[in-house]
Amino acid sequence: MQVTVIGAGYVGLIAAVCLAESGHTVKGVDVDHAKVEALRAGRSPIYEPGIEELIASGLASGRLSFHTPDDGWRELISEITIVAVGTPMAESGAADLSQVRDAVAALCAEADIPFTLVMKSTVAVGTGNSLIERFLSRAGVPITYVSNPEFLREGRAISDWYETDRIVLGAADPTHLAPLRDLYADIVAPVLETDIASAETIKYASNAFLATKISFINEIANFCDVVGADIDDVSHGIGMDARISPHFLHAGIGYGGSCFPKDTRALDFIAAMNGYQFSLLKSVIDVNNRQRLLPVIRLTDAMDGMDGRRIALLGLSFKPHTDDVRESPAVDMIPLLLEAGASVVTYDPLAVPVEMDGVERCATVWEALAGASAVIVATEWGEFSALDWSRVRGVMEEPAIVFDGRNCLDADAVRAAGLTYMAVGRPGAHRIDSKLRG
Ligand code: UDX
Repeated sequence: MQVTVIGAGYVGLIAAVCLAESGHTVKGVDVDHAKVEALRAGRSPIYEPGIEELIASGLASGRLSFHTPDDGWRELISEITIVAVGTPMAESGAADLSQVRDAVAALCAEADIPFTLVMKSTVAVGTGNSLIERFLSRAGVPITYVSNPEFLREGRAISDWYETDRIVLGAADPTHLAPLRDLYADIVAPVLETDIASAETIKYASNAFLATKISFINEIANFCDVVGADIDDVSHGIGMDARISPHFLHAGIGYGGSCFPKDTRALDFIAAMNGYQFSLLKSVIDVNNRQRLLPVIRLTDAMDGMDGRRIALLGLSFKPHTDDVRESPAVDMIPLLLEAGASVVTYDPLAVPVEMDGVERCATVWEALAGASAVIVATEWGEFSALDWSRVRGVMEEPAIVFDGRNCLDADAVRAAGLTYMAVGRPGAHRIDSKLRG
């Protein structure tokens, strides 16, 4: 099939390369000329395992090409045209839909062939129907609209594309979905066909549910600290119930990234705008905002203040296997540490640089650890769990505390090296602070 994908970011680029790999002829479009030039030369603007191989394969086969809108929408529109532009969080918490509206307005104004417009950007519930009314119904040719939310995880996006748990398709009329069935013919997954508002809601509800699991297990971890239980065993024990499942029960300093923080706030905003107070979701967001303060509160307490202390922050990306620092708990901690008087040094094996005054970025983990009074492990990179803790003890200053913000280290090995081990809900690692009791 002939496919156009508008937006070459984390969602659009994966869609473009994977659809080309499946045998479709794909035009990737982005307004950023430098990005398009890099893609034409085979370089990916995002870090994602396997993506450059798929770009190379698509370009070599001739099935994948990259364009800017300067090439003219009439040339660029295909029988299936996918919108995958960004919907960043606005100040209000709502999703900023301006890029979506601009793209749809341009497509509808320029189209001279009928086509299916597929929405992959995460848009507020009701957006599809409003776009149909404002733009599609006024176009000079028939354009049908399908909501097709994505569930790709960063770092595993390519395997998630091919091995998805489900494909969700929302349309005003089921006949509009026929081209999508052909588009995804090679993907073996259940397909849920529904209306547009339900498809839009499924995307938000999925992310809100996963965020709820994380905030729930983090609350249980804080509870474990109070009563002296072990969150690792508790998570394991509850996850053995198939109705609960073992996934997304890993306690720590909370969720970050481009989706969960944005989508939970957007869902809360949409609910409020429709006159509904989504109390559970508000608590999920609150717990997550509070959880990322944990290392700063506990270390300040343990060291009787941070003034003049060197703190090594290990890990800046919001999770391992990505360079993405958006809404990363680690990044949020930095101003608090600085405000408390600490000197902050950071190390991450992959994360894009975080430019903040007063923060030193180190080239190696050892450079960061040298002379540090405390270390915060904020991202569970394998490099950190494999550290030689005796050597770490040798380079750190008193009181030599390791705060394991992701419960990813071998607590016994850290303690055996003479370091003080703190974590989230692990027994003997610390007690709950009065400030967190709420
Ligand atoms: C998420 C969804 O999983 C994906 O389906 C959606 O479409 C986009 O958002 P992603 O943001 O890539 O994907 O990350 P994910 O692996 O889901 O993790 C999100 C955050 O939750 C990370 O900060 C991670 O560290 C945290 N997390 C995850 C936990 O704290 N505990 C867990 O048990 C799982």
